[in-house]
Amino acid sequence: MRFPFTVRDDIPLYLAPMAGVSESPFRRLCRRFGADVVVTEFLSAEGIRRENAATLDKLRFGADERPIGVQIFGADPVAMGEAARLVTDVFQPEFIDINFGCPVKKVVRRNGGSGCLKDLSLVESVIRSVSASTHLPVTVKIRSGWSEEARVPVEIALRCQDAGARALALHPRTRTQMYSGRARWEEIAAVAAALDIPVIGNGDIKTAEDAVRLQRETGCAAIMIARGSFGQPWIFDQTRALLEGKPKPDAPPIERRFEIALEHAHMAEDYEADPRGAAIEFRKHLGWYVKGVPGSAELRRKLHAVVSLTEVEDVFASYLANPHRYDDTRVMAALADESDEMESAPAAA
Ligand SMILES: Cc1cc2nc3c(=O)[nH]c(=O)nc-3n(C[C@H](O)[C@H](O)[C@H](O)COP(=O)(O)O)c2cc1C
Repeated sequence: MRFPFTVRDDIPLYLAPMAGVSESPFRRLCRRFGADVVVTEFLSAEGIRRENAATLDKLRFGADERPIGVQIFGADPVAMGEAARLVTDVFQPEFIDINFGCPVKKVVRRNGGSGCLKDLSLVESVIRSVSASTHLPVTVKIRSGWSEEARVPVEIALRCQDAGARALALHPRTRTQMYSGRARWEEIAAVAAALDIPVIGNGDIKTAEDAVRLQRETGCAAIMIARGSFGQPWIFDQTRALLEGKPKPDAPPIERRFEIALEHAHMAEDYEADPRGAAIEFRKHLGWYVKGVPGSAELRRKLHAVVSLTEVEDVFASYLANPHRYDDTRVMAALADESDEMESAPAAA
């Protein structure tokens, strides 16, 4: 299945657009850990065309993030077209993605995001207007419908394709479901079978094994991972290995995980204007990086109070130096296992 931009054609792995998470530093990190395509968090067409400073700030990305899509949302076809034109002229991403999936009240109240799904002619007008305003490929991200009664993923997807969408990502839940229930992968299979353009499967991938299962069960052309990347950007490399029939690489040991977290934190600090704000904003990532680490409750409590990256370094160093303080015998066992592994590893590894 051919993608409308240059990317490996054998099942590309996407980092999903996620407000407050898929920001430039995380996108860069995920690209390094095997994500083939990244997408910005959703940005308001109104904010872009009015050149709102905070919105334009979120449009910054580095060459090492490419191929990248800029995701825009809004219910006014004219504003969406203007935003697409500005993004094309100034930022030149590989593609423009339209958000028809966001379930948040503030957005759907004005018919943005999944609000558009209540009126499929509006969906078509938006896609046509955006496509007419840019030479870049236009892709879409949809949910299965507005509500259970209007759960018509294949119809929505076909209309998106007819209106000019060049690839389509499906998160198979309705707006009313928000994030409850399970993502119905069988709807991804039905949409993939019905469309000629590449369909990107998304929803409920927590592990590399889930990602491979989603692809095998649905025949989707690409896999998109959102929450499954939290605190484990290596999920992309693991998924690629499994797709290629190779053994899954282990998740990094605790010390390496802390190093990756710190590297990510420094990237975030460099990207943001205010270091204190960056550290506070980064707390959520820290919580995700230590998930499942022995003694993580206590560790998380400390990390959720940091206001600088030096404090993060101190918390990690103290954890590694004094694991017994975390009052969990599993900490000692996990670290002992790791040092055994290091000792038995070949020197050149
Ligand atoms: C914190 C968060 C922010 C999100 N922001 C966006 C967004 O800006 N645009 C979008 O299309 N979807 C957004 N989503 C939805 C995800 O891209 C994805 O469709 C959804 O989380 C299901 O995938 P998952 O089960 O792998 O998490 C967001 C999800 C989360 C958890």
